[in-house]
Amino acid sequence: MSTSLKDSVTVRRLRGRVGETVTLRGWVAGKRSSGKIAFVQFRDGTGTVQAVAAKSDVSAEAWADLERATQESTVTLTGTVKEDKRSPSGVELGLSDFRVEFLTQDFPITPKDHGTAFLMENRHLWLRSSRQRAALRVRSEVEQGIHDFFHDRDFVRIDSPILTPAACEGTSTLFETDYFGDKAYLSQSGQLYLEPAISAFGRVYCFGPTFRAEKSKTRRHLMEFWMVEPEVAFLEFDGLCDLAEEFVCELVARVLDRCAEDLKVLERDTAVLEKVVPPFPRITYSEAIERLNAKGNPIVWGDDFGADEETLVSADFDQPLMVSRFPTAFKAFYMQPDPENPKVVLGLDIIAPEGYGEIIGGSQRIHDHDFLLQRIREHDLPVEAFQWYLDVRKYGSCPHAGFGMGLERFVAWMCKLDHLRETIPYPRMLYKIYP
Ligand code: 4AD
Ligand code: MG
Repeated sequence: MSTSLKDSVTVRRLRGRVGETVTLRGWVAGKRSSGKIAFVQFRDGTGTVQAVAAKSDVSAEAWADLERATQESTVTLTGTVKEDKRSPSGVELGLSDFRVEFLTQDFPITPKDHGTAFLMENRHLWLRSSRQRAALRVRSEVEQGIHDFFHDRDFVRIDSPILTPAACEGTSTLFETDYFGDKAYLSQSGQLYLEPAISAFGRVYCFGPTFRAEKSKTRRHLMEFWMVEPEVAFLEFDGLCDLAEEFVCELVARVLDRCAEDLKVLERDTAVLEKVVPPFPRITYSEAIERLNAKGNPIVWGDDFGADEETLVSADFDQPLMVSRFPTAFKAFYMQPDPENPKVVLGLDIIAPEGYGEIIGGSQRIHDHDFLLQRIREHDLPVEAFQWYLDVRKYGSCPHAGFGMGLERFVAWMCKLDHLRETIPYPRMLYKIYP
């Protein structure tokens, strides 16, 4: 028998094995027994299936183990795969053998309601719950979708460093660490390292953990989150908007196509996601201010959006909303001003519907050396630390653009989760770093 995991038997693949007898190892998710017949909810990680045994069908040892098995006990079972149209897995197992390998006692997370604080303390165990598994499967599928999207378009993946000598997205949210007597910071974005790579590969992206010391306790912020960032040579602002739109649409379609069961577990209304097709509405920051004022929000031109403004301005749309041309004054130093109105930059934010806020932020970059140098000085950034970044504009400079998407925000929207903490295996939040 082959030992390759590629074609081994798993719960997920039982549908294609009706009539066969299979042996599986995993855990007891739940159990009930009448004394004559036992029903075990068996989980192997790939899925859950009901396994049924009558006392008369199995040995005395197997029946004794069925009786003593508890929630989250480790078990090995053997049974025949039977079609069962009523069950979500489409099959049921008729048991012929059942062994408890490890008897678990008092698993802390039971089917009753637990408070969030308790569940977060037990995140390492909470991962086994069906909703958590569904959300993390969606995350994993989106991650694969991201790689496939860029691979299909000839991008090269550039792994940007996590320890960096300088800030990318403002100095107020830096995690500082000691680097052999020098200061180093955990990366806020890989963008600055991608820009030199476009002159080597044309189209590049990075995808990895990103750190922001955000002293804010909101459901939309994590201290450590994953960001995917494409950067493309010769791509200008309109092309950037098209790329971001295509990216979001392809990922949503992939989740709908491949995560149907997980979305069902999460009770996600998929009709809303099916509407996510091009073209997305596109408005400018100035138009957004007018819309907000018309709705009674007091924001004035020049103020940045907060979560309330994002939610309010996007409420009129059931598609992601593209907002562009923000005031130069509050955006990052590297953003290219609009040639028709230098008070605004060629920056793009995409705000997800249903109150999920900004999922994408990007821009066309300044590609003129002297102008970028001036901006670095205006922002009081240390010029020496950016010398290498300025080199991109010294040798074979070209117009270019890119964006960053926060994976957790996207996954929260897909799964309609209230808080980012459930979209990442081990969330890092304000003052919370256990487990
Ligand atoms: O808008 P941001 O700050 O953009 C950048 O970092 C650019 N350098 C990206 C680029 O152009 N290559 O962050 C991008 C996205 C946001 O739209 C949001 O989805 C996510 O990253 N994000 C966060 N997600 C979770 N927790 C936080 N604290 C986040 N901060 C940003
Ligand atoms: Mg942003």
